[in-house]
Amino acid sequence: MVTVTAVHGDITEQAVDAIVNAANRQMRGGGGVDGAIHRAGGRAILDECIARFPDGLRTGDAGWTTAGKLPARWVIHAVGPNYLAGEQDRSLLESCYRRALAIADELGARSMAFPLISAGVYGWPLDDAIDVALETIARTRARVEDVRLVSFSESTHRRVRAQVLRQFPPPTDPRSVGRLFDRAPHQWSLRGDAYLWRTMRAEFASVPLPADAWALEKLIRTAFESITGRPLTDGDEPFHVPEFDPGHGMSAGGVTPSWWASTAIPILIDRFEATLPVEPGIDGLSVAAAGPDRSAI
Ligand code: APR
Repeated sequence: MVTVTAVHGDITEQAVDAIVNAANRQMRGGGGVDGAIHRAGGRAILDECIARFPDGLRTGDAGWTTAGKLPARWVIHAVGPNYLAGEQDRSLLESCYRRALAIADELGARSMAFPLISAGVYGWPLDDAIDVALETIARTRARVEDVRLVSFSESTHRRVRAQVLRQFPPPTDPRSVGRLFDRAPHQWSLRGDAYLWRTMRAEFASVPLPADAWALEKLIRTAFESITGRPLTDGDEPFHVPEFDPGHGMSAGGVTPSWWASTAIPILIDRFEATLPVEPGIDGLSVAAAGPDRSAI
């Protein structure tokens, strides 16, 4: 079972079995990821590229070399299509991920780090580059267990993370806050609320349940602000969160503060209270441990 995670950072610093390079057909280095890998990995990588790929590689193909001084065992060089030069056949980009996974299997690599191939100098539209990566990784049978999609910029990382959480939701620990989010509500207010729900579920996947419902509500409100950049003020109008909007012309990035205050949080508090030991009340009715005065929500 493969675990796919979005990582914000420099791909040359990923301690994995195989780092995937966004190479070009000549296989002699370049800029972007290619330049960073050759610089950090040292001359041994270029020497092997020359020895193993005297004629380079076709677009959509991939080949491996030593990782030199990088914290990895191999570099898998994948040649993405140059969108700006008119190479816009999506199957060529899919082939890069499929070939890299097949080579990782041949090598016995169990962990690998991918950049967003073709999404830089080659100009492939970012959201589609993310979709191609995730769809192909999801569809390709491979023995790799840990796949990281590494983004250099924070804004790209946030978009990658939103899509990774949608397609590869992480498991939640049994007594975690994230477990309260396992079942989606019957109805969302806006599509961005669904992305925000999944993001919170992942953030809380290993966070233990708090002592009481007040602390739970505080956790959710704090997460709302740290993820969206806006405080959860009940009367607020819906607002747009760009990384929740996968484009396709739909206003999918809308988040609704009032829905979180009046619906989502009460749902989560109900679920939280259902996890508490039941105590006999003074009137003989059983009550869950103290929670906030719900009329106040
Ligand atoms: N770590 C992680 N991601 C990175 C890094 C890095 N060190 N450097 C760049 N990126 C990101 C870019 O922001 C982009 O999202 O990797 C993605 C791929 O960008 P490029 O490296 O430009 O690759 P690509 O678009 O496939 O173009 C390949 O550019 O560098 C030359 O020799 C290369 O000719 C080839 C072409």
